[in-house]
Amino acid sequence: MDITRFDAALALEAALVTEKAAIAAHAMVGRGDEKAADQAAVDAMRTALNALDIKGRIVIGEGERDEAPMLYIGEEVGTGKGMAIDIALDPLEGTTLTAKAMANALAVMAFAPKGGLLYAPDTYMDKIALGPGYPEGIIDLDSAPADNVRAVAEHKGVSTDQITVCVMDRARHSKIIAELRELNCRIYLITDGDVQGVINTTDASTGVDLYIGTGGAPEGVLAAAALKCTGGQMQGRLVFRNDDEVARARRTGIDDLDAKYDLSGLASGPTIFSATGVTAGSLLDGVRYEGGFVSTETLVMNSVDGTVSRLRSRRPV
Ligand code: FBP
Repeated sequence: MDITRFDAALALEAALVTEKAAIAAHAMVGRGDEKAADQAAVDAMRTALNALDIKGRIVIGEGERDEAPMLYIGEEVGTGKGMAIDIALDPLEGTTLTAKAMANALAVMAFAPKGGLLYAPDTYMDKIALGPGYPEGIIDLDSAPADNVRAVAEHKGVSTDQITVCVMDRARHSKIIAELRELNCRIYLITDGDVQGVINTTDASTGVDLYIGTGGAPEGVLAAAALKCTGGQMQGRLVFRNDDEVARARRTGIDDLDAKYDLSGLASGPTIFSATGVTAGSLLDGVRYEGGFVSTETLVMNSVDGTVSRLRSRRPV
């Protein structure tokens, strides 16, 4: 696998792309219009990507070609001059968060060499993720949530009431939540944004140990790309609600519909991951305007050398 360009320079270029998308989306914070917020981020991300010397191909994007005029799956981006790079992106992860001026909206993107990311269809995915520092295999998507929490508590050397699990606040998670409540562990409920939900497990400042729940499959691959850089464990399995979703999976080349993917099944290659805060949140500051400047905070990481950087940028408006 060619990774010649997976260096600090490419990571900075990735950061620039998510910064541009975040700044554009920020103009739509609190305006009650999810679509317009997403469109602003998409336009800016596409323009920034097309300025890069890469032969980029969107593998996780805004949807299939007939549904998304821009950044659709299969779209080629970049000047076409550099190495072949597969791109997973979510120009605005948290459209509702942005429209309602709520915390934790991000612009997110990951690069991998061609073939390095699972071409996940736009379906749901059951997910479990744990931050770095634990023996491989102590959690399992097919184990009961309580058993996973017990395993993490045992290896952490604490009781289960000292474990924090991030879960999306959805009716479909009521059984998981009830089981976790029985254990009296802490539940960090999020209304949206499970890319960040998973990344929370890798950042001690969030206090989150474990992520459990069902969310978007594309978001699962993006989160896996981040965990490839930070270390940690993750498993995912696609969830299909109808025949159309099964057909989507087949079109992306997935034969085994019940496959349980581990981290390297979701992101097999080296990855560069970048996320810029749109609204302020637990992981990143949001876009801010002050004294004629706009500032952003970006988490940018490269699995090749394990670099995890926080980049604060300020540019004249
Ligand atoms: P948007 O960016 O489209 O608002 O999606 C955010 C998100 O919360 C994801 O993080 C998550 O994977 C997915 O939506 C969950 O979907 P649903 O809202 O259908 O439960």
